[in-house]
Amino acid sequence: MRRKLVVGNWKMHGSLAQNKALITSVTAGLRDLDNADFAVCVPAPYLSQAQSLLQGTNVAWGGQNVSQHEYGAYTGAVSARMLADFGCTYALIGHSERRVLIHETNTTAAASFGMALKAGLTPIFCVGETLEERQAGVSEAVVASQMIAILNTLGMDVLSKAVQLRAVIAYEPSWAIGTGRTATPEQAQAMHVFIRKQIAERDASVAGRVRILYGGSVNPSNASQLFVMPDIDGGLIGRCSLNPDEFIEICRTACETSAVAG
Ligand code: PGA
Repeated sequence: MRRKLVVGNWKMHGSLAQNKALITSVTAGLRDLDNADFAVCVPAPYLSQAQSLLQGTNVAWGGQNVSQHEYGAYTGAVSARMLADFGCTYALIGHSERRVLIHETNTTAAASFGMALKAGLTPIFCVGETLEERQAGVSEAVVASQMIAILNTLGMDVLSKAVQLRAVIAYEPSWAIGTGRTATPEQAQAMHVFIRKQIAERDASVAGRVRILYGGSVNPSNASQLFVMPDIDGGLIGRCSLNPDEFIEICRTACETSAVAG
C-alpha cells in the first residue's frame, strides 16, 4: 500500500523570520506523526534555512523548480544539483504557475524531470488542465499529453529509476489552484485513475507504486474526503501550507486516512 505524502508549496511567500516561526510550529505539530511523509517546497533563497531547521525532523524539504539544463549561462535558473547540495529530497516540476507564467512546456518539464533524477532528487511532476480545457471536455487529453512528455521522452528505464526514488505525480487542475474551488473527490479520483492507467499501460508495477497527489485548494475541511479516495495518495498544499495549524491538520488527516485505508 502506498504511504501518503503531504507537500507544502510555499510559492513566493516567506521571510527568514516568518519561515522560522512556521517551521518551528509545523515540526512541533508533526513530531509524533509517523504513518505519512511530509515535506515543504521553499523558495530557493531559503533552502539553506530549511536545511538547517528541518534536518533531523520528519519533514523533508525541496525546491519549487528545476532547470532543464545541468549548468551554464541561464541567469536566474536553479539546477537539480544545486537543490541536492542543500539536502533537498523533492523538486516540484512543471507546476501550472510556471507552465502559464514562465511558459514552461511539456518538453522542458520532461527535461527537468530527467535532471532531477540524475541528481538523486525525487521529482513531483505536476499535471492538470485549465478551466477552459475542462469545460471543453478535453481534460484527459491534456493530462495524457503532459504524462506522455515524461513517459515517452524518458522511457520506462528512467521511470523505474523514478519509482525507486519514489517519484510523485501531482494532479493539479489549474482552475482549483488558489481559487478556493476544489475538484470533487470523485473528479480527482477519476483523473488519478486515468493517470495511473497511462503508466500501467507501460508498466503495471510502476503504476501501482507511483504516488499521485491531488493539489488545488486542499484545506482541513475537504482533506479527508479527498484522501480517502483509493488513488489519492496525499496532497500538494499551497495556501494552507503557510498556516501551521491548517497544514498540521491536513497532515494529521493524511495519517488518519492512511490508517483507515491500511
Ligand atoms: P492551493 O495551491 O492549495 O493554494 O490551491 C496548490 C498548489 O498550487 O500547489
